[in-house]
Amino acid sequence: MIDSWNEKAVRVHRRLLVTGGAGFIGSNFVLYWCDTYPDDRVVVLDALTYAGNRRNLADVEGRENFRFVEGDICDRTLLDKLLQEENIDTVAHFAAESHVDRSILGPGAFVQTNVVGTFTLLEAFRQHWKTPLSKQEGIFLHVSTDEVYGSLGPNDPAFTETTPYAPNSPYSASKAGSDHLVRAYYHTYGLPTIITNCSNNYGPYQFPEKLIPLMCINALIGKNLPVYGDGQNVRDWLYVIDHCRALDVVIHRGKPGETYNVGGNNEVKNIDLVQTLCELMDKLATDLPVRPCSNLITFVKDRQGHDRRYAINSNKLKTKLDWSPSVTVEEGLRLTVEWYLNNRDWWEPLLSEEYQTYYRQVYVS
Ligand code: NAD
Ligand code: DAU
Repeated sequence: MIDSWNEKAVRVHRRLLVTGGAGFIGSNFVLYWCDTYPDDRVVVLDALTYAGNRRNLADVEGRENFRFVEGDICDRTLLDKLLQEENIDTVAHFAAESHVDRSILGPGAFVQTNVVGTFTLLEAFRQHWKTPLSKQEGIFLHVSTDEVYGSLGPNDPAFTETTPYAPNSPYSASKAGSDHLVRAYYHTYGLPTIITNCSNNYGPYQFPEKLIPLMCINALIGKNLPVYGDGQNVRDWLYVIDHCRALDVVIHRGKPGETYNVGGNNEVKNIDLVQTLCELMDKLATDLPVRPCSNLITFVKDRQGHDRRYAINSNKLKTKLDWSPSVTVEEGLRLTVEWYLNNRDWWEPLLSEEYQTYYRQVYVS
């Protein structure tokens, strides 16, 4: 049966605080939300770390109902001020350190932002929630990851919402810590929190360090395509707009205190994904330095503690909230490759000195 918790006959305009709204998924969510609900107020809070990019939000900057604030989720004074002056009823919490390889190089920032930052945001929202104005409506949506469930064997069933947590990297451990805090704030204080645990996203505006953009960009500049280990690790891929659609139904109809898994039902081995990307590049790009692209594939040293397989069971979201992915992996990958081909001016400046230093640390050692 489909849940209609929190759904009203006449839709109430929401006032959202979107943390991490200048990152990959956050910015896709903001663009989606501003187009879908133009009368809602959307306030983005983002620290603009290396992964944050204000240009992602160019299409909505200047709109009356949109505001961008540069700041840190660990800054309690700023959070209190924003929640109050904007009378926020809905927090969509994306802000995080999100890259596993960086968490292996330097876990401290992950604990700070993902654990301490989420704690600070929860405390600020708890304080704000005491005011009667915002108490009627609203949600604290915590956007999390399937990586908190650990790694699957080849024949294990996909992760469900009741799979025990077993995070393996500093990144996933810090996300698991934040999930536990969010859960505790519902049970202890009655704060209307919801957690979503999603599989690997891909699409426009993803920072070059992640697998799909990295392969597209390296192919375009004629650099090796580094596949970790034996390339047999499996990920479950979801087009980013389908994730945004899932968060939309969760915000509108999700039940406080619940967790919802979000996945694409698209399990693919890394090496197969990279081969597919190479074929798409060969077909769609006119000026490739190396053709066929697959000549650039290089097996490199494995990621430390590399999880073998993730797979997500999204049946709860499908049956309770009537969500399912709308973009096939073939369509999504084509759209993504085309986006990186057509938006060189977006990614070229991101291959900065900082990025080159990071790249050498991970790939040349
Ligand atoms: P991202 O790294 O692209 O973006 C993170 C954003 O958070 C950036 O804009 C950054 O500037 C901002 N940020 C970082 N620290 C901050 C701080 N202390 N205060 C304020 N802003 C800060 O990440 P993403 O891939 O868009 O992921 C967004 C969220 O979704 C994360 O919580 C991540 O764990 C989760 N998630 C990601 C995926 C995926 O495949 N990318 C899948 C499932 C869940
Ligand atoms: O599962 C959800 C998670 O997906 C999110 O929580 C994370 O924020 C997001 O970064 C992503 O984590 P992964 O580690 O799965 O994504 P990444 O793109 O880094 O790697 C995908 C797979 O590809 C993984 O098995 C490692 C492999 N890989 C990655 C890179 C960057 C390579 O083989 N070579 C590479 O150069």
